[in-house]
Amino acid sequence: MISVKTQGEIDLMREPCAIVRDCLAFVGERIGAGMTTKEVDTLVEKFIRASGATPSCLGYCGYPASACVSVNEVVVHGIPGDYVLREGDIVSVDLCAYKNGFHGDGARTFRIGRVSPEKDKLVRVTEECFFKGIEGLSAGTPLFDIGYRVQKHAEANGFSVVRAYTGHGIGREMHEDPTVPNHGHRGTGPRLPAGAVICIEPMIAAGNWRVATLDDGWTAVTLDKKPAAHYENTVVIGEDGVEILTL
Ligand code: MF3
Ligand code: CO
Repeated sequence: MISVKTQGEIDLMREPCAIVRDCLAFVGERIGAGMTTKEVDTLVEKFIRASGATPSCLGYCGYPASACVSVNEVVVHGIPGDYVLREGDIVSVDLCAYKNGFHGDGARTFRIGRVSPEKDKLVRVTEECFFKGIEGLSAGTPLFDIGYRVQKHAEANGFSVVRAYTGHGIGREMHEDPTVPNHGHRGTGPRLPAGAVICIEPMIAAGNWRVATLDDGWTAVTLDKKPAAHYENTVVIGEDGVEILTL
């Protein structure tokens, strides 16, 4: 059941989403070689709390940090720790903020210094996949058109779509219906109603899309150890288009 938010609820979501947006920009200005992934998490937690919000991820199903910091072959849910970022890494930072009774959710993949041409293209194409995904999107669009568009763009560039994780509805809970796959067939799935708020988050692999979870129960890595990237925004479905709350 895809829930629909009232205009008042959507207005309440603007603030946590703006905090996510600003926090991602803040991290993007500071992240660099020599920093540990734990230091990235500390930046995120301080920023979110200083904004009067709560980091939604901290304690979620036992998750031990405020951000997911996923380097190179880590697709998503990388737990911040002692790893020192170095030139050539790509690192996705995924974070959620809770304020006004609602969550906002977003992710960016950052390049550390100069990265290989393959990683550079992967980061660019993953962002493009998000924007392809929302092309023509409005109330009435079949849900799986999003994944169809994402998949088409990823595969046209020689990359693959990670299937094990998806986007999701968001609101008073961080994860609500519907599940938003990044692959699929056009013209299928429920039609999105106006007022639905969803997170669209392509996770794109340079090689094969198959992933495994490490023993920590969270860290998702590509089986072939090739790099992956992630890009996410919280989006409101409107009658004539979408509004991106985390940009
Ligand atoms: N922000 C993530 C998402 O897009 C949630 C990560 S799981 C958590 O769904 F445990 F870290 F919260
Ligand atoms: Co999300």
